[in-house]
Amino acid sequence: MPLNTPLPPGATGEWFNAIPRRISSRRFEEDPVAPALLDRLAETCARMTAPIGHARAILVREAPREVFTGLVGSYGRVEGAPSLAAFVGPDDAGMAVGYIGEALILDATAAGVDSVWIAAAFDAGHAGRLVDLREGERVHAIAALGHATKTVGAGERLMRAGVRARHRLHLDAIAPGHAGWPAWAREAAAAARLAPSGANKQPWRLHIDGDALVLTKAPKTYWTAPLDLGIAMLHAELGAMHAGVGGTWTVGTGAEVARFVPGPEA
Ligand SMILES: Cc1cc2nc3c(=O)[nH]c(=O)nc-3n(C[C@H](O)[C@H](O)[C@H](O)COP(=O)(O)O)c2cc1C
Repeated sequence: MPLNTPLPPGATGEWFNAIPRRISSRRFEEDPVAPALLDRLAETCARMTAPIGHARAILVREAPREVFTGLVGSYGRVEGAPSLAAFVGPDDAGMAVGYIGEALILDATAAGVDSVWIAAAFDAGHAGRLVDLREGERVHAIAALGHATKTVGAGERLMRAGVRARHRLHLDAIAPGHAGWPAWAREAAAAARLAPSGANKQPWRLHIDGDALVLTKAPKTYWTAPLDLGIAMLHAELGAMHAGVGGTWTVGTGAEVARFVPGPEA
C-alpha cells in the first residue's frame, strides 16, 4: 500500500527545524492559544488528512478538562491544557495516525505552541464525542496543546526521569552502518532518532536496501509502537527532504514495516 505524502509546501523546512526544539509539556498556562494560531493548526489538520491511510487530526479549540484522565504522579497527567488535537483513524491505522499526528505536533512547535502526545491517560469515549467519529474510526491518541508553564512540576520531573525523556538511543543502535550511507539517509536517520515515542521506547530501526531506506521495528516493542513508527517515518522523511531528497513511503510486508524510495512524489 502506498503512503504517498505530499507534505504542505513551505511547512517541511519549518517542521524539520522544529524537531530538535520539540519537547513534551504536561503543565500549561490556562490562557487560551491565540485564535490565529489555532486557525493555523486547524488548517494543518485539514491539509494533512488527505495523503495517508484514512488517518485524521482534528483540532478541539476548547479542551474539556475531563478528557485528560491522568492522576497525580501518573504517566500522562496533564494540567490546564486549553486546547487539544484528536488523532483518529480505523483500528489498524496506527502508523498513519502517528505520521499525521506528528505533523500537527511539529507544526504546533514551529508556531510556538507546546504539546504532549497522550495515548494512555485520556477518555477515548469523551474525545470521540468531541470530534464526530466516522463509522469504524477510533481516537488512537490525543495531544494536549497550549503554552507550557515556565516551571515543570515535581511530578512531571519525576515522570520524565522515569522514562528518561531526554535520552535517545545511539545512532549505531538504530541505524547500524549509517556512516557509509548517502547523506540524505544519514539525515533521515538522525531526524528519526529524535522522534518522541510512547514511554520513550524508540522502537524504530533503519537500514539501507539498494536505493531505499527501510524501517523495521525493535525486537521488543511497547503497545504504542504503530504510532511511534509512523512518527519516525515523518521525521525520517523530513530529514531526507532537508538533504534535498524527496520520496515515497510504501508499507512493507513481514519484518519490513515501511520503505522510503527516493524519487518524485507520486
Ligand atoms: C505515541 C505516543 C504516546 C505517548 N503517550 C504518553 C502518555 O500517555 N502520557 C505521557 O505523559 N506521555 C506520553 N507520551 C510522551 C512520551 O513519554 C515522550 O515523548 C517521551 O518520553 C520523550 O520525551 P520528549 O517528548 O520530551 O522528547 C507519548 C508519546 C508518544 C509518541
